[in-house]
Amino acid sequence: MRDNKRGKSGFTFLGALLFFALIALIMQIAILVYAYIAERTSDKGLIAILVLIMIVILSAICTVCDIIRRKIMVDKPVSSILEATEKIASGDFNVRLEPRHVYTKYDEYDVIMENLNTMASELQKSEVLKTDFISNVSHEIKTPLAIIQSYAKLLNNDSLSSEDREKYTQTLISASKRLSDLISNILKLSKLENQGIPPERERINLTEALFCSILTFEELIDKRGIELICDFDEDVSIISSPSYLEIVWNNLMSNAIKFTPKGGKVSVSLKDEGEKVRVVFKDTGCGISREVGGRIFEKFYQGDTSHKSEGNGLGLALTKKVIDNLGGKITVESELGKGTSFTIELYKNA
Ligand SMILES: Nc1ncnc2c1ncn2[C@@H]1O[C@H](COP(=O)(O)OP(=O)(O)OP(=O)(O)O)[C@@H](O)[C@H]1O
Ligand SMILES: [Mg+2]
Repeated sequence: MRDNKRGKSGFTFLGALLFFALIALIMQIAILVYAYIAERTSDKGLIAILVLIMIVILSAICTVCDIIRRKIMVDKPVSSILEATEKIASGDFNVRLEPRHVYTKYDEYDVIMENLNTMASELQKSEVLKTDFISNVSHEIKTPLAIIQSYAKLLNNDSLSSEDREKYTQTLISASKRLSDLISNILKLSKLENQGIPPERERINLTEALFCSILTFEELIDKRGIELICDFDEDVSIISSPSYLEIVWNNLMSNAIKFTPKGGKVSVSLKDEGEKVRVVFKDTGCGISREVGGRIFEKFYQGDTSHKSEGNGLGLALTKKVIDNLGGKITVESELGKGTSFTIELYKNA
């Protein structure tokens, strides 16, 4: 986008000078014609008629000049702008207008044309995002729905053993949980994108809040045989939005556990750094390659194909949105095969 989009007014100094010269010329011609006629006749009636005819001819010349000027300066750009707005209104966002002057000589029509081009390309981008989003959501919905349908059919069989029945029921429960997690994450994301985080803030004992979030993973950590190490400064207090911060801790914790194999370690630390707090989630899991690392905050992006069935790739997109909204920072460091560490920095008064 141009740094200064304000164009020059259509009424330029040169235009004013031309207009002035035309009027002066016409008046001069009128005076000369009057003097010429008055010299040759003393018939006042004839002089009046000839002067009237001359005024009509000169006015007609002025009107024609103005019509030509308007056609070139106003009608042409306005009709191309009109045509473009009609195309945009009917959903054709490919339309682009060519400004009539070089940038240094832009007039207001050129600025309108460039603004229209920007508007059309922004609409085109959001259309692409919308289509991508819909195809991603449909894809993510299809898989658990297919599981639910086929396992529900299997469960309908009366001759099933109780172990199989139990196994299929668990599969049904986990597929429907995946669906409900997907929908709740989409709703949270769209709320964050459209409204941001509500301005209400509370004083939070972050040390306690973080412990509580981590405690909910206790069973899973045991089940996966992972060692958990916590190193928290005591009674770290911040003013923030507890429910949104919980989204962050839950996503980072669930990722650390999900991507760390049995026998691995997950460490969480909380440090009070005066104006800010620093929370680090470190694991000894599979790590993230440089290529994958560049995309992990995108919606629906999942780098590790072996865990595709767990989650939908929305966790980090949500986490980043929350941190950005709270004015904080999230960074990631990782080494493939060795582990990953996510660092969150938050102002105590966000
Ligand atoms: N701790 C980690 N170790 C290794 N890879 C990770 C880690 N955290 C995230 N990733 C990579 O980043 C991708 C995106 O993470 P994100 O949390 O957004 O999605 P997800 O965990 O796959 O799904 P969801 O969060 O929706 O359950 C993951 O699929 C994985 O490839
Ligand atoms: Mg995740």
